[in-house]
Amino acid sequence: MLVNATEMLIKARDGHYGVPQFNINNLEWTKAVLTACEEMKSPVILGVSEGAGKYMTGFKTVAAMVDAMVDSMGITVPVALHLDHGGDFEICKACIDGGFTSVMIDGSKHEFEENIALTKQVVEYAHAHGVVVEAELGKLAGVEDNISVDARSATFTDPAEAAEFVERTGVDSLAIAIGTSHGAYKFKGEPYLDFERLQEIHRLIPDTPLVLHGASTVLPEFVARCNEYGGQIPGAQGVPEEMIRAATKYGICKVNIDTDLRLAMTAEIRRYLTEHPADFDPRKYLGPARDAIRRMVSHKITDVLGWKK
Ligand code: G3H
Ligand code: 13P
Ligand code: ZN
Repeated sequence: MLVNATEMLIKARDGHYGVPQFNINNLEWTKAVLTACEEMKSPVILGVSEGAGKYMTGFKTVAAMVDAMVDSMGITVPVALHLDHGGDFEICKACIDGGFTSVMIDGSKHEFEENIALTKQVVEYAHAHGVVVEAELGKLAGVEDNISVDARSATFTDPAEAAEFVERTGVDSLAIAIGTSHGAYKFKGEPYLDFERLQEIHRLIPDTPLVLHGASTVLPEFVARCNEYGGQIPGAQGVPEEMIRAATKYGICKVNIDTDLRLAMTAEIRRYLTEHPADFDPRKYLGPARDAIRRMVSHKITDVLGWKK
């Protein structure tokens, strides 16, 4: 059975570790995440972006697939199904009506007041249906966005605004911007996260679970393996794992990871196909790819997020 994420986030907040949100994009991927989390006895939030939802034939299909897999696989750990970066009320409503237990309304592109109004609207509907809501304040920008370091930090979350936002919206958790970004190109030089800002936000709203998006590390080993087998991912760089670990000490309760699983899967498929040019049964390369995701998930849970079985 799918659960809403409240309890797991509260436990993470009090225990100073991170609950993982692993984004999912297909069945093999979902199976890998569920298998690893069950082995680790770790709760998990399965994130589904709008794009991933469309790719998997709609949110209703995703909910049915995840529900059936949790049941057939005999999964006993808490699993939440979460809309990632919902852009408007309608899409959140579709997920809530379709069996998701958690939604993110991402109003970060809007002005403060508009973000509040939109988030409040989603919170009212979601709470009436037993679903929890994550919102976002501040903007995530990476080196791909081509903005200067100063302009980038101007988009970071303002602590006083974060406190006002949570108070006025009643949101359950808050995604903040402190220097991470989505994808494989997060920093050009030294990685930098604004830990002082994070601590100040946590000081003002200590009860609110904070969420770190763009938390992939872009492990050099996996980038190198992609490139070795014909990939072209030059200059990719993520958030060092010790920074993610530190963030969970300062109020980050939920850590979002997608890119690291993409890289693990792609590196393995590239390697497999190069080494087995005669194979054409997709199960031959998707099986090892699934195992690569499983290993990455286990590594994150044990070595990065601070989870103890
Ligand atoms: O938040 C970003 C996630 O990695 C989802 O990315 O929109 O390409 O599925 P996507
Ligand atoms: P990464 O691209 O760093 O994996 O971030 C994923 C994310 O934040 C999903 O919401
Ligand atoms: Zn995100």
